[in-house]
Amino acid sequence: MYHVNIVVAKNPAEVGKLAADQFEAVLRVKPACVIGLATGSTPLPLYRELIEREKAGRIDFRRVRSANLDEYKGLAPDHPQSYRRFMQENLFDHISIKPENTIVPDGLAQDVDAMCAAYEKQIEDWGGVDVQLLGIGHDGHIGFNEPCDSFPRMTHEVELTDMTREANKRFFDSIDEVPTAAFTMGIGTVMAARKIVMVVTGADKAGILRQSFFGPVTPQVPASVLQFHPDVTLICDEAAFPG
Ligand code: PGA
Repeated sequence: MYHVNIVVAKNPAEVGKLAADQFEAVLRVKPACVIGLATGSTPLPLYRELIEREKAGRIDFRRVRSANLDEYKGLAPDHPQSYRRFMQENLFDHISIKPENTIVPDGLAQDVDAMCAAYEKQIEDWGGVDVQLLGIGHDGHIGFNEPCDSFPRMTHEVELTDMTREANKRFFDSIDEVPTAAFTMGIGTVMAARKIVMVVTGADKAGILRQSFFGPVTPQVPASVLQFHPDVTLICDEAAFPG
């Protein structure tokens, strides 16, 4: 097991600031870096912070490329709950990143294998992900890699678990509208990132964090694989602290 850096922040806003410090450091050293991005509630303070820091002239997204972790299957890019739309509204529309330099899996892909292979190839052609942002699901998922029997390597289609659909129904009018499948980077894709920053807040995540970082490494707890990554920084608030 490698050493995992655990940073404990006072509250979610502080988690956002500390995570922004990590991204700012990478952007300053490598202005044309590749960042891996995530959706969900937890990254929102980070995205607000990044927007403010670019406005303040501390960082510059003009040469940055970004690849998102996942997208719901069947949702068009402009669907109100699509992850493409989430990224536009919460980050991309407010920073100088070029639209052609942002990729999110295509929720409407007909040829799923081709789309997934092209997604991997784009990341590879960019030279790989320099810093990957992650959240964690209550079942230990990262991206939409749900508990299963082996760690999926590449970008692929997944069926969403009832727990994940239940957690995400807050964004939809009803559970029936929550897609039953998604496309996600694989565990291999995530593990290939040179640096990983995970943000976690809330007491309801403390248990799964403890299992992920201090329990056995198993695909039944997908985030546990991060114990084998050489550069992980976990930034959590006091409520989520797994110690
Ligand atoms: P959340 O999602 O930040 O909305 O809790 C995290 C996840 O499911 O990966």
